[in-house]
Amino acid sequence: MSTTASVSVAEDAAVSGGHAGTPVPALSRRAGALKGEIVVPGDKSVSHRALIFGTLTVGETQISGLLEGEDVLNTARACAALGAQVERVGPGAWRVHGVGVGGLSAPTDPLDFGNAGTGSRLMMGVVGGNPITATFDGDASLRGRPMRRILDPLERMGVQVVAAAEGGRLPITLKGPRDLNPITYESPVASAQIKSAVLLAGLGAPGETSVIENEASRDHTERMLAHFGADVRVEPYGEHGRKVTLKGRPELKPAPISVPADPSSAAFPLVAALIVPGSDVTIKGVMTNPLRTGLLITLKEMGASIELVDERVEGGESVADLRVRASSLTGVDVPAARAPSMIDEYPVLAVAAAFATGTTRMRGLSELRVKESDRLAAVTAGLEAAGVAYHVEGDDLIVEGKGHAPGGGTVKTHMDHRIAMSFLVMGFATDKPMKIDDISFVATSFPAFVPLMTAIGAVIETAA
Ligand code: S3P
Repeated sequence: MSTTASVSVAEDAAVSGGHAGTPVPALSRRAGALKGEIVVPGDKSVSHRALIFGTLTVGETQISGLLEGEDVLNTARACAALGAQVERVGPGAWRVHGVGVGGLSAPTDPLDFGNAGTGSRLMMGVVGGNPITATFDGDASLRGRPMRRILDPLERMGVQVVAAAEGGRLPITLKGPRDLNPITYESPVASAQIKSAVLLAGLGAPGETSVIENEASRDHTERMLAHFGADVRVEPYGEHGRKVTLKGRPELKPAPISVPADPSSAAFPLVAALIVPGSDVTIKGVMTNPLRTGLLITLKEMGASIELVDERVEGGESVADLRVRASSLTGVDVPAARAPSMIDEYPVLAVAAAFATGTTRMRGLSELRVKESDRLAAVTAGLEAAGVAYHVEGDDLIVEGKGHAPGGGTVKTHMDHRIAMSFLVMGFATDKPMKIDDISFVATSFPAFVPLMTAIGAVIETAA
């Protein structure tokens, strides 16, 4: 593939400024009401999986609506390096000629996943399920993230960790065995990345591989396994948990994938429309998978006017147009059990909470500390810069909303796209503009963030 895919990578970098080079500071300021209809990019989780499952299929998988952000493009390159033919045939339209379960070839160079936790962790499972050796690497943010959570279950399945940096971090070299042990793994954290890595490795094992989680995490892997013809069973486990069981060594059949719009990206224009007075914005075709709707539930509890219009099923996922109108928000208590269904949305929820009246308590945020940055630290530093009162008690973040926020500060984004977008959104409604030190990482998940927000009336100024 590489020629076609690298062309699209270059195009993306040109749109967003890329993030390999010097930081690009940016500023957002108050303007008029936000108005209009927008389409946000394809879901990042589904996009990674579409390419990966296409690779594990014999034949051609056609994908539409793929997120062409840096994270997903790195997964596309990794799939190609492992033997699949990956081709971009138009905007968001991709074709993958897979090699089948067990058919991967060893890559000649290390696989570089850039900033992407999902891409790297899922591909560790894929490589572990094949008798090949591969090295995984990434940028400074990804090199700092914990990978033991993936290596532990893979080692139990017989995968050899040939090399790893201190603390089980990237760069990591894995060697998949000839005969993998199917296991039943009770995951210590509700993480779709852990679950998916084990299940993807389990594709290469004889017999049944199961993953148990005590809180259900996003289920795109299970859905896609079934979509491609694997034998997968999902049973309830405990009060909120699930047990997912997969029969190994299936022959996956190509199946078309249409990627719905990403609710985690929709979260930014959504919160922007709520906090900028007079706004009325419709975000089209957003995925409403119940394991991804924690933010919608929370914002509605806060009094947000969000109407789900034309609810429908597209490509096996529920979607709806979200009509969002500026609203007076009230502080709420967000239970820890809701965290897996909105784990990526807490930074922008903290922004909404700053403009609410009263206290918002977000419980059980330990996983936020190990995302693209320590998001708990990055969010509190951002609130501080904006003059918003908050405190942290254990793993809970408490924001004291006053209905408005002074702003005027500069936020460090720590190579984290969601921190960058959250605090730019904040600046649309603060008294004084908000600055961020680097906008370039929005390219990982939302390359067109600036033109799209500008199209509905927001003001973002960049140095580029
Ligand atoms: C993802 C799972 C989540 C999420 C990430 C995408 C996925 O991570 O934060 O952005 O696609 O499986 P965890 O599974 O580690 O919570």
